[in-house]
Amino acid sequence: MEEFLFSHLDQYRSVWRMAIDNAVVLRLENVYKQYESEDCSPVKVLKNISLTVKRGNSIAIVGPSGCGKSTLLNILGSLDSPTSGNIQLDGQELANLSEPELATVRNQKIGFIFQSHHLLPQCSVLENVLVPTLAEKGKASFDAIERAKQLLERSGLEHRLTHRPSQLSGGECQRVAVVRALINQPSLILADEPTGALDYSNAEAMTELLVKLNLEDQATLIVVTHSTELAAKMGATYKLQNGIFES
Ligand SMILES: Nc1ncnc2c1ncn2[C@@H]1O[C@H](COP(=O)(O)OP(=O)(O)OP(=O)(O)O)[C@@H](O)[C@H]1O
Ligand SMILES: [Mg+2]
Repeated sequence: MEEFLFSHLDQYRSVWRMAIDNAVVLRLENVYKQYESEDCSPVKVLKNISLTVKRGNSIAIVGPSGCGKSTLLNILGSLDSPTSGNIQLDGQELANLSEPELATVRNQKIGFIFQSHHLLPQCSVLENVLVPTLAEKGKASFDAIERAKQLLERSGLEHRLTHRPSQLSGGECQRVAVVRALINQPSLILADEPTGALDYSNAEAMTELLVKLNLEDQATLIVVTHSTELAAKMGATYKLQNGIFES
């Protein structure tokens, strides 16, 4: 009897694992985005974008400057809403969530690496990295501080923990922003030009870190990039042009 139960438990586990592995993290259906302004005609940026991203996928979004890559990434991360179309994150329709609910989803599930790093100028490197961990208790835990120090060390910033952003180079600020995005162990990482301000060897190290997080932690990774090296390391590349994905 015990043997029978255990053999079925194994089967159940493998079916469950397959279900998790194939889980859809993000689904976009017929997404349009246009920016309205009073003094000029509307800017139609995204025109009918559909995309399905499964857990653990890594995706590069490429395309010329101004084609809408950052716009798309902001919409994927619920920082901006589409003019029309549907977006589901882990099966939840984002349009049905209130702003506080969206803020919780963003804080718990998504790590953002912005094109401009948005570090807090009055805070040290370590404090900046710990900001996303403060939402629940208002105070960083011992584990969070240890993880922050480890990630900063892996990014070559262990000697800059008490520096303020004004005392760092552009590339160092970008590395701090990347570490801040990873501190809550997000299941979805959205990165807008994560290697844009880095020299060759730091860009390589950052690419390696992102790929490792994707492979080892099964974090789903979506990067917007002009770097062919980074795009080549992703599982799939989508080219955005004239508001649609070109095949
Ligand atoms: N708030 C806004 N109001 C009006 N137009 C906007 C606004 N934000 C972006 N745009 C326009 O939308 C288009 C897409 O901008 P976006 O920042 O998404 O481009 P991008 O592909 O990320 O470019 P880059 O590679 O230079 O970062 C651009 O033409 C831009 O001028
Ligand atoms: Mg951009």
